[in-house]
Amino acid sequence: MESTGNWSTSAGWLPGVSAVSYGGDYNPEQWPEELWPEDVELMRQAGVNLVSIGIFSWAMIEPRPGEYDFGWMDRLFELLHAAGIRISLGTPTASPPAWFFHEHPEARVVTRDGTTLGFGSRGMASPSSPAYRRASTSIATALAKRYGSHPALAVWHVHNEYGAPVSECYSDESVRAFREWLRDRYTSLDALNGAWGTAFWGQRYVEWEHVSAPAVSASVVNPAQRLDFARFTSDALLQCFIAERDAIRTECPGVPITTNFMAGTCESVDLWKWADEVDLVANDHYLVAEDERSQVGLALSADLTRSIARGRPWLLMEHSTSSVNWQPRNLAKRSGELTRNALSHFGRGADGVMFFQWRASRSGAEKFHSAMLPHAGTRSRVWSEVCSLGGDLGRLAEVLGSEVTADAAILWDWESFWAQDLEWRPSKDLSHRERVNAFYERLWQDQIVVDFAHPEADLSSYRLVVAPASYLLTQSAADNLRRYVEGGGTLVVSYFSAIVDEHDAVHPGGFVAPLRDVLGLTVEEFLPLRAGEKVRLSFDGIVGDVWTDDVALQGAEVVAAYEDGPAAGKPAITRHRLGNGSAWYLSTRLTVDDLSVVLDKAYVDAGIVAGDGPEDLELVRRRGSQADYLIAVNHGTRPVDLPVGGVDLLSGQAGESLKVEAGGARVIRIDKPTD
Ligand code: GLA
Repeated sequence: MESTGNWSTSAGWLPGVSAVSYGGDYNPEQWPEELWPEDVELMRQAGVNLVSIGIFSWAMIEPRPGEYDFGWMDRLFELLHAAGIRISLGTPTASPPAWFFHEHPEARVVTRDGTTLGFGSRGMASPSSPAYRRASTSIATALAKRYGSHPALAVWHVHNEYGAPVSECYSDESVRAFREWLRDRYTSLDALNGAWGTAFWGQRYVEWEHVSAPAVSASVVNPAQRLDFARFTSDALLQCFIAERDAIRTECPGVPITTNFMAGTCESVDLWKWADEVDLVANDHYLVAEDERSQVGLALSADLTRSIARGRPWLLMEHSTSSVNWQPRNLAKRSGELTRNALSHFGRGADGVMFFQWRASRSGAEKFHSAMLPHAGTRSRVWSEVCSLGGDLGRLAEVLGSEVTADAAILWDWESFWAQDLEWRPSKDLSHRERVNAFYERLWQDQIVVDFAHPEADLSSYRLVVAPASYLLTQSAADNLRRYVEGGGTLVVSYFSAIVDEHDAVHPGGFVAPLRDVLGLTVEEFLPLRAGEKVRLSFDGIVGDVWTDDVALQGAEVVAAYEDGPAAGKPAITRHRLGNGSAWYLSTRLTVDDLSVVLDKAYVDAGIVAGDGPEDLELVRRRGSQADYLIAVNHGTRPVDLPVGGVDLLSGQAGESLKVEAGGARVIRIDKPTD
């Protein structure tokens, strides 16, 4: 990861921090000040060493425009500092005060259907509002001046979850900013007309003032316009972050600055771009509680976060100790799940583990959300698990800085996902996320750790690259994939990939044209299936659904053909050798189980050996300079004997083989041979 300021990752983890960070969001302004010493005492009992404060405190810090009240925060800093607890200081710009919207009604978010959002919630200022930019950089500057040199300050936590709960804004100010963004991108209206294909449906523009945001219209709005608006939205939010970051850095150059991402759950920000602007990557993740295999979604988010961090350790800024309060059914975590979840994140590269929030709120929208200190107090299961996790993490300091390496990568590109998710696609059953999840789950069950990679990134370190949903694939990304395969890589491409260019225009030459020589085939026509329709493949009795293609071979060999359905007799799964590598194509949707049929063969091409442990055993290796650390999390109901020699840092047990209890976890140090 490149450092963008004076602070540098080469300085290590958070400056002055030599333990795994542990804690959560701390919102003491919701409680009488007499309670704060008790909070801090309990934090010490739980092993807490880092808390995020001030995230929603704008109205407390600046009760009237330009009038600051830092007294309470000064006292809080001193209290935490005296207890040796470090601070992640939030800038409160996700929640501007009522006075701000009273003075600047134009800064309210306008939704795509023209609704102006009211006050009373959070996260509702327009990212393109000049008044909001001024006010947010002023409060960030004031905080940096006040606390920038305080020894308790460990990291800046700018804003909160950019892109949530709303990201797009269609206000007049946003429309003007969008026009400026388009002028920068295209320079001329001719170029914009060409990129947007405005000859279609007579949309040609002759004046910049006529170009607008893609608000709700009579029918489908120009998809290229919508794709550019999605790019603009991500950039507008990023400009808000950069403005605050630069204001802070001017006053406080020595402390890292970050913001909490929602990798894998918020789709409106392009985190590949954002990653270059933060000093370290931080992420929030909440389980989909009703998903019985929610540990797989957690692992996906953690692997995506590590990939965004370019492999460097990252900070889990928020997750939950038990239930959340915003899902349709907010299931509580079962006994041991809190520790398993935390150690899964840790195993996948998180050097800090934090929660929303320290003490459960009595009032407001989130009073039913779990916390480290629940409403039930310290005589509760959650509290004792929180303390036990604090003890566990306290034994893991030597793992800090070690890194996860992956042999396989899954391509991930927000621009492609934005484009694919627009209206009028060839089948409503196409879902980019469903395919990414399916391939990820297959690899997870095979105990193959994956990175996520942008299609134009250097892929040469991976033995296997999977493209489950690369609908938008630029020519230069296709060239990158060609070089990857020619150089000896194994590429697996799923259907509805390489269809359009960066303007959502079908590639010249037709579907998959830029990958035609890589895959050794062309797709003449899409042949989507009816709801529930299944097609049989000439292989192992497997069936596909949702999709088939009319594939014409141009050098690829057929691995399986369709036995029935609209593509009967045509290739279903193919393999093409190119240079030193091979490229596979799957033209139908296979279940997670049936994906093995293709991936087991691709693993052979790639020289990857799948794990042979039980499928509920999560195994990840972090590599350090002196030792490797195997993090084993048993999500199953039976104990597993791990034939791995080493020392379990959690229990101190050593042996040539270690048992991982049902629902339990180990962090095993495996010393490197000395020679
Ligand atoms: C998000 C927010 C927090 C809180 C949690 C609840 O992550 O950042 O402020 O609302 O969700 O799950």
